[in-house]
Amino acid sequence: MSLEKMEDLQLEGKYLQPETKEVNGILMTKLISDKWDQIWSFQAKPDDLLIATYAKAGTTWTQEIVDMIQHDGDELKCQRANTYDRHPFIEWTLPPPLKSGLDLANAMPSPRTLKTHLPVQLLPPSFWKENCKIIYVARNAKDCLVSYYHFSRMNKMVPDPGTWEEYIEAFKAGKVLWGSWYDHVQGWWDQKDKHRILYLFYEDMKEDPKREIRKILKFLEKEVTEEVLDKIVYHTSFQVMKHNPMANYTTLPSSIMDHSISPFMRKGMPGDWKNHFTVAQSEAFDKDYRKKMAGSTLTFRTEV
Ligand code: A3P
Repeated sequence: MSLEKMEDLQLEGKYLQPETKEVNGILMTKLISDKWDQIWSFQAKPDDLLIATYAKAGTTWTQEIVDMIQHDGDELKCQRANTYDRHPFIEWTLPPPLKSGLDLANAMPSPRTLKTHLPVQLLPPSFWKENCKIIYVARNAKDCLVSYYHFSRMNKMVPDPGTWEEYIEAFKAGKVLWGSWYDHVQGWWDQKDKHRILYLFYEDMKEDPKREIRKILKFLEKEVTEEVLDKIVYHTSFQVMKHNPMANYTTLPSSIMDHSISPFMRKGMPGDWKNHFTVAQSEAFDKDYRKKMAGSTLTFRTEV
């Protein structure tokens, strides 16, 4: 499918600011919802690796790290295709003739690395049955919210976020695509010791990328030289990825993702929420947060 064709479909309004429809109480695009039976019965394979995140938690970053590990630090091999073609996004559904995540995944030879934003209860059961390895990345709520807000402004494939004030309320209520951040991070946290799940934090990755990449290497049972490890750290840094067209989503037509509204690689910094929330908004958010996360052993850092 050529980008021009995608643009035509976009202009025809085929997926411009899409309709939404819930799946078991979780907000999804209507396209995903209508294809849910097929998504739910997706057949995972034992050697699939799944990268699971709440939207805007550092998915693309983790995908690039994993790809670099799998290709022994060869950045040219990692530039073979766009992130979304290298790692099918299993539930993402587009109108035909565009390829959906399921089409891409089913056509991909093993071993596959796949991406999802599904909350844990909606993960196709074959991933559990096949005991697949899963890397889950979580990011603190306020930075996730800010990133998701700007992403929703620039990406015409997801619903319009409304005003900043409206968006804070929608996020708190879980009325955004893929549902509640609170339930998502907590749901995956609760499963992490029962399955082969490596649970990582965006803030830790930012603080010490080498340390976190070593955790991924161990989880994937891979070894690389110190030199290759340094290369992976460099190639997956925000500054380098920001200029990598195969990782920064700039190859999509601007009618789909408009980077002049807000670049996909926006700030890449923990604590940017302070530039967005007023003191009153932050206090109200924290009060609600404490209620929603009460009793949880899961804690986040909101700055590094
Ligand atoms: P910001 O909007 O805060 O800048 P996802 O890939 O899950 O959609 O997440 C996108 C967020 O991760 C964006 O956050 C983006 O800038 C950030 N990001 C992408 N690559 C990164 C990197 N190499 N280092 C740090 N942050 C990165």
